[in-house]
Amino acid sequence: MADDVSRHGMWSSRLLFVLAATGSAVGLGNIWKFPYITGENGGGAFVLVYLICIAAIGIPVMMAEVLLGRAGRQSPINTLRTLVKDTGASSFWTVIGWMGVLAGFLILSYYAVIAGWAVSYIFRLAGGAFAGADGAVSTAIFGDFMASPWEVLLWHTVFMIATIFIVARGVVRGLQVAVRWLMPILLVLLLGLVGYAAIYGDFARALEFLFTFDASKLSWSGTLTAMGHAFFTLSLGMGAIMAYGAYLQSNTSISSTVITIGTLDTAVALAAGLAIFPIVFAVEGLVPGEGVGLMFQTLPIAFGNLPGGSILGALFFILVSFAAITSAISLTEPALTYLVEQYNAKRWRVAISLGVFCWLLGIGTVLSFNTWSDAKLFGLTFFEVVDYLSYKVMLPLGGLLIAVFVGWVLARRTVVSQLGYGDGKKWSLWETGIAFVAPAGIVIVFVYTIVQSFG
Ligand code: PHE
Repeated sequence: MADDVSRHGMWSSRLLFVLAATGSAVGLGNIWKFPYITGENGGGAFVLVYLICIAAIGIPVMMAEVLLGRAGRQSPINTLRTLVKDTGASSFWTVIGWMGVLAGFLILSYYAVIAGWAVSYIFRLAGGAFAGADGAVSTAIFGDFMASPWEVLLWHTVFMIATIFIVARGVVRGLQVAVRWLMPILLVLLLGLVGYAAIYGDFARALEFLFTFDASKLSWSGTLTAMGHAFFTLSLGMGAIMAYGAYLQSNTSISSTVITIGTLDTAVALAAGLAIFPIVFAVEGLVPGEGVGLMFQTLPIAFGNLPGGSILGALFFILVSFAAITSAISLTEPALTYLVEQYNAKRWRVAISLGVFCWLLGIGTVLSFNTWSDAKLFGLTFFEVVDYLSYKVMLPLGGLLIAVFVGWVLARRTVVSQLGYGDGKKWSLWETGIAFVAPAGIVIVFVYTIVQSFG
């Protein structure tokens, strides 16, 4: 078994692990993606399924990832190799690590593009582009922006360079500092926006939209979206949390830490929904199913009509960009640590190579919103294909393999020594979750989605 420290560094405390993992979890998934997919999938029923997936599948799988990482103390691929040997299992299971590396690439390639949009909005807001704006103005600004590939590419590049810069400095020195200050400010600002939405928006309708359960609005494909999103928003199924778990001190309780992270992440997503939907319902020309542009078309209206809103708005998009960066770096960690271990390479060199590769792949997403918007595979643009494959297929599949590996294959003594309990109520709850509920839940959603889409 590996030594009890990782060669890549260690978090200096439990708090820093919580901040880093929350930094990874809280990102565009919460503020940008959650509201628009909720809008596209009809609201309340979707939200409920998402919450169930977080609690019943996300939490056990996150515990499993953290314990795997801490038991192996290496990159996900090598952690799995070590544990597979230790348990005497088939080397097939290292596929979890490989698929994770691939999923990380795919996600980062488009994540950096969308984060680039957020960076560009810092300057739009600061420059007063939204002063007094209504729905038509903000929709037009977003549309013009999407129609300019060079401009989108510029911001994509800026974001990718910033990410790689932090990654190259090392997780501990580059990141801890950022996360410690920025995440709390982001939360405060988001709550402020909820306050604005409550006063000036149609808050009652937003509450109804988000929290009334209407089963007829939910399809199996919506359920798959909710489940995929539960993985995406908690950074699960591709090794990011496993990589971070490798730097966690041995005496920290995994279950309570993971529950804290899951709760914070969910709170941010719901707050984003409560900031965005009241505006959608109050402003003419906006609809919940707007799609990827939703956050960029709603929140600037709030800022544009507030005293001091240009400054506040710029600050908000700065914070969103930071939330995105603390997620983006975790997307590179599995591949990066593997290459460093395998080739004894310098961290910064690997970081730059990975960055260039992802940046190139990202150009496909940049063009999906303009030049290539008509080029479709199965009716999906390049961006939609990459997005679909990563979060609706690879993350849940990775999560399924992780749950089965930890619940059924991994030596019980490893699990017991990591969790600190081997019997009693906590153990039965954990065992039920990881060995039965999570795998069965994922399989059922997959099967029904496939059946329904061919039925
Ligand atoms: N959890 C991040 C977000 O919600 C995205 C992410 C997915 C990060 C997978 C790492 C791994 O924005």
